[in-house]
Amino acid sequence: MILCDNLVKIYKTKETEVVALQGLDLTIQKGELTAIIGKSGSGKSTLLNIIAGLDRPSAGSIHVDGKNLLKFNDRQLMMYNRETIGFVWQNKARNLLPYLSAELNVQVPMMITGLKNRRDRARELLDMVGLKNRYKSRLGELSGGEQQRVAIAIALANKPKLILADEPTGAVDSINTYKIMELFEKLNNELGVTIVIVTHDLNISSMVDRVISISDGMIGSEMLKKEDYQKRLSLLDDITQPTESHEEYAVIDNKGRIKIPEEYIENMKLRGGERIKIRKSVEGFEIYKA
Ligand SMILES: Nc1ncnc2c1ncn2[C@@H]1O[C@H](COP(=O)(O)OP(=O)(O)OP(=O)(O)O)[C@@H](O)[C@H]1O
Ligand SMILES: [Mg+2]
Repeated sequence: MILCDNLVKIYKTKETEVVALQGLDLTIQKGELTAIIGKSGSGKSTLLNIIAGLDRPSAGSIHVDGKNLLKFNDRQLMMYNRETIGFVWQNKARNLLPYLSAELNVQVPMMITGLKNRRDRARELLDMVGLKNRYKSRLGELSGGEQQRVAIAIALANKPKLILADEPTGAVDSINTYKIMELFEKLNNELGVTIVIVTHDLNISSMVDRVISISDGMIGSEMLKKEDYQKRLSLLDDITQPTESHEEYAVIDNKGRIKIPEEYIENMKLRGGERIKIRKSVEGFEIYKA
């Protein structure tokens, strides 16, 4: 569904140049539910905006659903964004028009693309996100969590193949965070839509199978859910940190580069330019200070 190869994004302002992405490789399969984590400023939103066709990379290549985004002119890129992508912003004001009811908000994207049966579909989507009987509510009459669920219904309006959510639970409490994540899981399972969620929240990442960590504009490491974790979870019934639920992997990029996870660098007190050894062991490969 998503194939990024050596993506570079440089923001140029009068005074400075910021390298937001520095040669990022990423592959996401159709139907995956993935979380992206990383410190503030690591390039998460930049990546999401490029995947959504809202911004263009400075170098590298990006394919989404088999389409080469770099070949699109501005108009084609806008059409691609409308037809392929559903975007959920952290900022609620950016998702919803405050003076329209929930159901009209969900109809807006359909009006733009000319989809038929808008009212029925809007209501169906609001039912799906758990907002039956709130069709007529306006922004101010809905709680923060409910507003984010309307935002998800809006994102689904044009039957997107890919949902991108930039900190969708940033402004809601943990119970609503859990409900929103359950909703994403349901959409992923029932509609088969590919979903990428950017988050700071470690509890969120424990709910998805694959967590990709970005650091300094590159893939830092990847965490995959441990196979026996589901079994343990059904016995334990508690919320666990992703470090317990997932196994962390270093990822080699298309040029053979590996980014060593930051905690290793700290634990091993490594400095740039220092020599390390990669050695084969029973477990796989291990990194040593030379
Ligand atoms: N429009 C812009 N102009 C100049 N620099 C920018 C612009 N957008 C982002 N940057 C810079 O690029 C880097 C990556 O920003 P980005 O917004 O992708 O980070 P992020 O991982 O989403 O952070 P956060 O978790 O705080 O949302 C930062 O150093 C940021 O200051
Ligand atoms: Mg961001």
